[in-house]
Amino acid sequence: MPYCSTIFLIAHYRHPSMWKLPLFIGLLCSICLSTQATPSDCSDNCLLRFRCNPYYKDYVWSIVDEKCRVFQNGCIFASENCTRVNRCLPEMVATTQEQCQERCSDICTFIYQPVCAAFPYTNDTEGSSDIRYRTFSNRCVLDSYACKRGHAYVGEPQAGACNATTV
Ligand SMILES: *[C@@H]1O[C@H](CO)[C@@H](O)[C@H](O)[C@H]1NC(C)=O
Ligand SMILES: *[C@@H]1O[C@H](CO)[C@@H](O)[C@H](O)[C@H]1NC(C)=O
Ligand SMILES: *[C@@H]1O[C@H](CO)[C@@H](O)[C@H](O)[C@H]1NC(C)=O
Repeated sequence: MPYCSTIFLIAHYRHPSMWKLPLFIGLLCSICLSTQATPSDCSDNCLLRFRCNPYYKDYVWSIVDEKCRVFQNGCIFASENCTRVNRCLPEMVATTQEQCQERCSDICTFIYQPVCAAFPYTNDTEGSSDIRYRTFSNRCVLDSYACKRGHAYVGEPQAGACNATTV
């Protein structure tokens, strides 16, 4: 089934004024043109395109598929919402941090199915921003960490441990 995928482009740089270069980074909701229209094809439901600043921190909390998720900011939240509705999934609704955190994943398996998640960091004193990668033993452990600590990752976590060069 065709759907509108969210592509997350990450660039590294040390200076915030680089934001003026719009091509550097963004959450791009690709144009979804489907050649094979089916009754359950939702890919035209949301044609918005997003270019989100991953360093702008203004958390949005939402209970998604019964579990609490935290999003770095409203743009990323809206982008993910768009991706979901294009996959025929219910739209996401924001809630409070308190209500959301009652639904953090608690019980995760010990099965080692590592994922690599990207966490944006900004140092206002230094005026620097970067993305730090961190490996979690599985997706549940990652989501539990993000939810309980209140620390949002950006983009879809990659399957597999992070590369040695990306701590
Ligand atoms: C989520 O997507 C639906 C359908 O496109 C839209 O009506 C709703 O406003 C969106 N919500 C947010 C927070 O973007
Ligand atoms: C920000 O950078 C300064 C100077 O390098 C450093 O002293 C400080 O600990 C950093 N702050 C954080 C929150 O990392
Ligand atoms: C790790 O490196 C490979 C090869 O350079 C690259 O294709 C892959 O996207 C990288 N994975 C992550 C999580 O950075």
